[in-house]
Amino acid sequence: MRLPERVLSTVMPPIDALNNRMAELAAEGQDVISLGQSVPFFGPPVEMIAAVSEALSLDPRIHSYGPDAGIPELRQALAEKLKRHNGVDADPATQIMVTPGSNQAFMVAMLTLLEPGDEVAIAAPYYFNHHMAIELCGGRVVEAPTSEEDGFQLHLSDVEAATTDRTRAIVITSPNNPTGAVYDRAEVERIARFAADRRIQLVSDEAYEFFGYDGVSTFSPGSIPDLGDTVITLGSLSKTFGMTGWRIGYMVAGEEFCRQALKVQDATAICAPIISQIGAVVALGVIDAFTEGHLAELEARRDLLERTLTSIPSLDWTKTNGALFAFVKAAPTASGRELAWEVLDRTNMLMVPGSAFGDAWRNFVRISYGSSTRDRFEEALNRLAVYFNGSGGAGVR
Ligand SMILES: Cc1ncc(COP(=O)(O)O)c(C=O)c1O
Repeated sequence: MRLPERVLSTVMPPIDALNNRMAELAAEGQDVISLGQSVPFFGPPVEMIAAVSEALSLDPRIHSYGPDAGIPELRQALAEKLKRHNGVDADPATQIMVTPGSNQAFMVAMLTLLEPGDEVAIAAPYYFNHHMAIELCGGRVVEAPTSEEDGFQLHLSDVEAATTDRTRAIVITSPNNPTGAVYDRAEVERIARFAADRRIQLVSDEAYEFFGYDGVSTFSPGSIPDLGDTVITLGSLSKTFGMTGWRIGYMVAGEEFCRQALKVQDATAICAPIISQIGAVVALGVIDAFTEGHLAELEARRDLLERTLTSIPSLDWTKTNGALFAFVKAAPTASGRELAWEVLDRTNMLMVPGSAFGDAWRNFVRISYGSSTRDRFEEALNRLAVYFNGSGGAGVR
């Protein structure tokens, strides 16, 4: 079979083997804990589940295709949320497209934007699926590296250095996966103005927008006035509402971009699942109370993790204040991949090797503090401390 180079050269995230091994261990009856998943520990709002249950028997729309861009009431609810929470003005009729998850929104944006050989500057370490999507579209990833020394902040100078006259897009993810960094607002504004001056699209992935700690609030560059159609905002209900399996994300962009992007949506998904869209409307109706309810718990876990990591001399992490992750540096010569395998073998716990987020991050591992229950998370901290130090965690049972 002849397959194109853009597909053959794209690699899957290198954690499949670890995931398979964890599943084997679980099947053997071992007490496994995943610190690997980027899913929150909670499920969707009860109001959403009730509305969906009712729709299952009463709403005939759920069995059919719906409008490509999403059902009108969801686009309206998103427009209101974008205005109120993000300061972004978007016409629900022409500038918002609901997608089956925001990964799909990213793919739609790239397929709409890129010619083969076009470059995309992307803050590194990066979310692996962004990298895959760009390559699958025939684009070329150019990394704008961040560094642990200043908390993985992204600077305009790094973005400038990653930009050439072939650059079609700059991708930023704040709060960041995998680092947990929330980018400085003034710097994001500078990057957005730089992009606008050069007629480059700024793609802002805001999947973790509601996960900011220590009082930081996240910032949507789509709210900056006078940038024209520079910014493409990508959002997700997956993490916000603990509904990764329902597949609801969205893209906000200029009218013409959305019109063209609808072709990609129609050719790939037609529309996001209608039952999920009906649920999403209800979830958005309780967004403030729901998101507030989990923040203190996640912040407390992050602080517990920091105490444990501080007690482990061979690991280095300076606390970041967003998303669900710690991107932890092992000794400079250590291999994050070997470490992840060894931790899995010895402690039955999964973490993600740093190489999953770019080759330069081989001696890092990503630890998610968001996914398990509090009890299991404390057990995980204990196992980490015992494995690395030979004694119990700092302040956890
Ligand atoms: C930065 C980032 N963007 C997007 C996604 C995908 O989210 P969705 O479930 O909306 O496709 C993830 C999932 O882990 C992510 O980490």
